[in-house]
Amino acid sequence: MEKPVDRKYPSVRAVSEAERIGMVKEMFSTITGKYDFLNHFLSLRRDIAWRRFTVKKMRFFKTMRFLDVACGTADLSIDAAMKYGGISVTGADFVFEMLEHGKVKVEKKGLDRRITLMQGDALELPFRDNSFDVVGIAFGIRNIPDRERALKEMLRVTVPGGAVMVLEMTFIQNPLFKLVYHVYLNHILPRLAKRFSPNPAAYHYLADSIMNFPQPDAFAAMMEKTGMVNVTKHPLTFGVTYLHVGVKPEGL
Ligand SMILES: C[S@@+](CC[C@H](N)C(=O)[O-])C[C@H]1O[C@@H](n2cnc3c(N)ncnc32)[C@H](O)[C@@H]1O
Repeated sequence: MEKPVDRKYPSVRAVSEAERIGMVKEMFSTITGKYDFLNHFLSLRRDIAWRRFTVKKMRFFKTMRFLDVACGTADLSIDAAMKYGGISVTGADFVFEMLEHGKVKVEKKGLDRRITLMQGDALELPFRDNSFDVVGIAFGIRNIPDRERALKEMLRVTVPGGAVMVLEMTFIQNPLFKLVYHVYLNHILPRLAKRFSPNPAAYHYLADSIMNFPQPDAFAAMMEKTGMVNVTKHPLTFGVTYLHVGVKPEGL
């Protein structure tokens, strides 16, 4: 069990990119043991449905390989491998502790021959161009300050005709839900985190990073700017979360 961490993190708007990356690494290495439980509990198990929705949209046609970027404890990797028996999956994350936890889960499911978890940075993926039919990231892009660079890297390793999939939480704009969500993120969630997480400040960061994440249209435009085509947006649970899918065109 992790030792409790008594921390306060500055707002994501007040730190440099390098400081933010340091914060993210520290946070995820201190909350690992409770990460899965709190994900399911704080999202009322919606995170499971959101990942399943993402997996259903995947299409394997050439390399039969899926890359899970910022894979954490490997939930998306496991869901994809369970649904598509013929694929192999690679999960990459830069926090060792999250990967170790993921490896235990992969072994328990008997998927260790089909899922490889490795340490790797989303900004410099250690793979050749055009290696995967699908490259996905679940709840990871929000934690990466240089999002455009991460999207370009994901696109580089995707085969032409393949898909880049980004599942991420956003701050709802509907005025009624916005108020409810604001109260949840800023008042209820920190209290629950204080009760259950070894590092409650990580959940202040969660609220802060969601509120400072681009709105779906702006994010879709960023995906198009990197060269992706046919970008589609799928709102999930009233738009609390979005799945964005972009396709790599031939010849890119
Ligand atoms: C909220 S967790 C999501 C984990 C998992 N994808 C899921 O669905 O639960 C965010 C993950 O992103 C990872 N991460 C953040 N920035 C990264 C980067 N530049 N390269 C690799 N992993 C990164 C963190 O280490 C953490 O495990």
